[in-house]
Amino acid sequence: MNRDEPLVLGIETSCDETGIGIVRGTTLLANVIASSMDEHARYGGVVPEVAARAHLEALGPSIDAALEESGVALDDLDAVAVTSGPGLAGALMVGVGAAKALALALEKPIYAVNHLVGHVGADLLDADAPLETPTIALLVSGGHTSLLVVRDLVSDVELLGETVDDAAGEAFDKVARVLGLPYPGGPEIDRAAVGGDPKAIRFPRGLTQPKDQAAHRYDFSFSGLKTAVARWVEQREAAGEPVPIADVAASFREAVADVLVTKAIAACTDLGVPRLLLGGGVIANARLRELAQERADAARVALRIPPLSLCTDNGAMIAALGAQLIMAGHEPSGLGFGADSTLPATEVQVA
Ligand code: KG4
Ligand code: ZN
Repeated sequence: MNRDEPLVLGIETSCDETGIGIVRGTTLLANVIASSMDEHARYGGVVPEVAARAHLEALGPSIDAALEESGVALDDLDAVAVTSGPGLAGALMVGVGAAKALALALEKPIYAVNHLVGHVGADLLDADAPLETPTIALLVSGGHTSLLVVRDLVSDVELLGETVDDAAGEAFDKVARVLGLPYPGGPEIDRAAVGGDPKAIRFPRGLTQPKDQAAHRYDFSFSGLKTAVARWVEQREAAGEPVPIADVAASFREAVADVLVTKAIAACTDLGVPRLLLGGGVIANARLRELAQERADAARVALRIPPLSLCTDNGAMIAALGAQLIMAGHEPSGLGFGADSTLPATEVQVA
């Protein structure tokens, strides 16, 4: 196998995106994403069974499209990489099954990798400067809100904290529903917040009280915030007063961005790590990006944000992590691995 610049196909099916990526080392050759988001819209959130079925339908055509986009033939691949977890069990299983079948049929090695660490690996692709470690990584999407310290991408990743209830993206989706906005809620709230006053309503910042510092300094909680917004809106409606959507959206967005950035910068400062990497679909949030840049500059922390097409769930980041494992001389995974919906962040590769 070519260890210098291995040619890897990555398969990602942990949530509602079927992602197929092809990379050569850190060079992105194809990034095909088929999302089943529209099919979940009427339920207001991702329905696992619907996602799993959609992966099954999208996988074949997405692999074909990635091969065509990259001009790569299956036989040329050095390895297949796949998300083993964490994520939705049924959805993961579809990708794992497909990856094993592909690897077996092609007689290629397979690398079962961690989705969260994959988000960090996305930063390697077509980057102007190499990813420097150690780095703090803040990963926020509809499925996860995690703060990691990455000392070595392939061998030393530690989870500092995560959400104890809803993911940040989930909170955006639920609050959007309260405000009568469609799914997915993040972009809608971002739009609705334009012109709103972020200081109009002081919504709660979860797990930021002095009493939370010992056990939950790096953990997140968004369920209290979501309830606070719902109550505020209900009270307005009960009083027969109009709901100032722009102010509510801006104030809610401010609360989420404030908590995420405060905790991420605290991790940088506490651990003496002057680097922060952002990943996940919520990174599209305009205020979150702005606030992260402001506070990172103030704390002299170098902020890195991969392009949005690599921030949301995708197969290229999985392929990129697979390529790193190969280049570091890691052995392939055995075919005995399965889908692990709660795979810990410390486990970069499943043996
Ligand atoms: O990474 P992603 O595409 O994958 C899943 O988690 O499936 O993230 C989707 C999440 C959704 O919850 C969506 O509402 C949120 O990211 N999102 C945003 C924005 N764009 C997408 N949240 C806040 N602001 C945005 N602009
Ligand atoms: Zn993700």
